[in-house]
Amino acid sequence: MQIGHNKMGSFGSPSSRFFSSGLNCSILITFLISWTLLVSSDAYDALDPNGNITIKWDIISWTPDGYVAVVTIFNFQQYRHIQSPGWSLGWTWAKKEVIWSMVGGQATEQGDCSRYKGNIPHCCKKDPTVVDLLPGTPYNQQIANCCKGGVISSWVQDPANAASSFQLSVGAAGTTNKTVKLPKNLTLKTPGPGYTCGPAKIVRPTTFFTQDKRRTTQAMMTWNVTCTYSQFLARDSPSCCVSLSSFYNEVIVPCPTCACGCQHSAARPGSCVEEDSPYLASVVSGSGRKNYDPLVQCTSHMCPIRVHWHVKLNYKEYWRVKVTITNFNYNMNYTQWNLVVQHPNFDNLTEIFSFNYKSLNPYASINDTAMLWGVQFYNDELMQAGPDGNVQSDVLFQKDASTFTFDKGWAFPRRVYFNGDNCVMPPPDAYPWLPGDGSQLGSSMKGDRWQRKTKL
Ligand SMILES: *[C@@H]1O[C@H](CO)[C@@H](O)[C@H](O)[C@H]1NC(C)=O
Ligand SMILES: *[C@@H]1O[C@H](CO)[C@@H](O)[C@H](O)[C@H]1NC(C)=O
Ligand SMILES: *[C@@H]1O[C@H](CO)[C@@H](O)[C@H](O)[C@H]1NC(C)=O
Ligand SMILES: *[C@@H]1O[C@H](CO)[C@@H](O)[C@H](O)[C@H]1NC(C)=O
Ligand SMILES: *[C@@H]1O[C@H](CO)[C@@H](O)[C@H](O)[C@H]1NC(C)=O
Ligand SMILES: *[C@@H]1O[C@H](CO)[C@@H](O)[C@H](O)[C@H]1NC(C)=O
Ligand SMILES: *[C@@H]1O[C@H](CO)[C@@H](O)[C@H](O)[C@H]1NC(C)=O
Repeated sequence: MQIGHNKMGSFGSPSSRFFSSGLNCSILITFLISWTLLVSSDAYDALDPNGNITIKWDIISWTPDGYVAVVTIFNFQQYRHIQSPGWSLGWTWAKKEVIWSMVGGQATEQGDCSRYKGNIPHCCKKDPTVVDLLPGTPYNQQIANCCKGGVISSWVQDPANAASSFQLSVGAAGTTNKTVKLPKNLTLKTPGPGYTCGPAKIVRPTTFFTQDKRRTTQAMMTWNVTCTYSQFLARDSPSCCVSLSSFYNEVIVPCPTCACGCQHSAARPGSCVEEDSPYLASVVSGSGRKNYDPLVQCTSHMCPIRVHWHVKLNYKEYWRVKVTITNFNYNMNYTQWNLVVQHPNFDNLTEIFSFNYKSLNPYASINDTAMLWGVQFYNDELMQAGPDGNVQSDVLFQKDASTFTFDKGWAFPRRVYFNGDNCVMPPPDAYPWLPGDGSQLGSSMKGDRWQRKTKL
């Protein structure tokens, strides 16, 4: 895990080494693979080192047998969001607590409340699971930041919608800050796994401003829980890959074969559908319950998402790239999608044509990383696989004479994330090469070796 935690060391240096030295290729490939595994198996994200989701419980009043709390989920991640069908939050009560009622959210199961007569609690389970309410919930069942179907924006894309709240009234609980027991084992699902939450910690009580901002009030008691994401926990295979091309070489470097799985894998037969399959219509229109597992079009890479980087034009002082994101998943419209790209020339981006853009500076002095996302109502939704399943934009960079080159794959990105998940890159020695650059011998053979190793 050393590489992942060594902040400056991990930042860009392993990949930039590919472009500057002539080290033995198979060592480089092995290095890249082990580096990718290290990074992805670790909750630490070098491009968003402080990213986390913090869940805050504020007790706002005591009741005869417990308390009323407002629970808020803050998404402090720069680019990772929670899209439909949204979050679900579970925990285990420390004692025999029950939830009398909820506003702005609901427990998915009531559980066994047979020991109650008269007033029946909303939920009696020892380990309740709570979900957000849907948009359009009546006003008397809403609180601020609720009722968005569990969707939470990333911090950069829409900070105003980067939190989600619900309120619950808890019974059979402590009624002072000495007798309340904190819930244990908080689990955040989105709706699948990926997040790991730490223990609840009592923190300084939150203060709230009244509407006229002339008075502050204070929670009776507050605790926080911090959750971090790991792509390794979220899924057993990558979900995105990168392909490359350039105006100076007619070779299109495809996504690595089997980047996200293999077409004829024995473990998952029938795991993809052909584009022109008659079966397609029936699976896509789907019947009854929604299944969120990807249903991908059959390709050599089997990824739900492909990002294509095409070096398009070379001007005297500028150069231009076309970025295309293609959705191969028939089961998902990616709302509020985003892309994070690391390339040294992002410190001198001149113009981006039909995406939004923000420079990310995980380490104050280096701004070679950019977050790109769609323009609202225009291309902020990446439609399911098919004729509309792609978005694209041109990016114009100003050249810096001291670093700019088309040589040794410099013009291609070092790292790409789609919706916060690392995309599988082609091996560096397969990159489109500048005519006359002799370093490109036998690249297809090396590509095969790469694929065998990645199956480890
Ligand atoms: C969570 O993120 C916030 C905002 O970036 C940061 O202030 C806080 O220290 C982080 N918490 C942890 C435990 O990393
Ligand atoms: C509990 O309340 C007492 C007095 O109201 C206060 O002094 C103490 O700091 C509180 N403890 C916690 C954990 O909030
Ligand atoms: C924590 O929650 C998970 C998922 O709900 C469950 O599998 C696990 O057994 C729980 N652990 C404890 C100590 O309650
Ligand atoms: C608890 O979480 C809130 C909201 O994220 C944050 O403002 C506060 O600083 C956190 N407190 C601690 C001690 O981490
Ligand atoms: C994607 O959106 C289109 C148009 O809103 C809709 O017809 C289609 O069913 C959606 N697909 C999925 C997988 O949700
Ligand atoms: C990158 O950082 C430099 C120096 O801090 C700044 O002048 C430049 O505008 C930044 N570039 C972008 C694209 O944000
Ligand atoms: C951007 O490129 C121009 C031209 O080479 C250069 O003068 C300028 O210093 C560069 N800006 C940054 C932030 O590197």
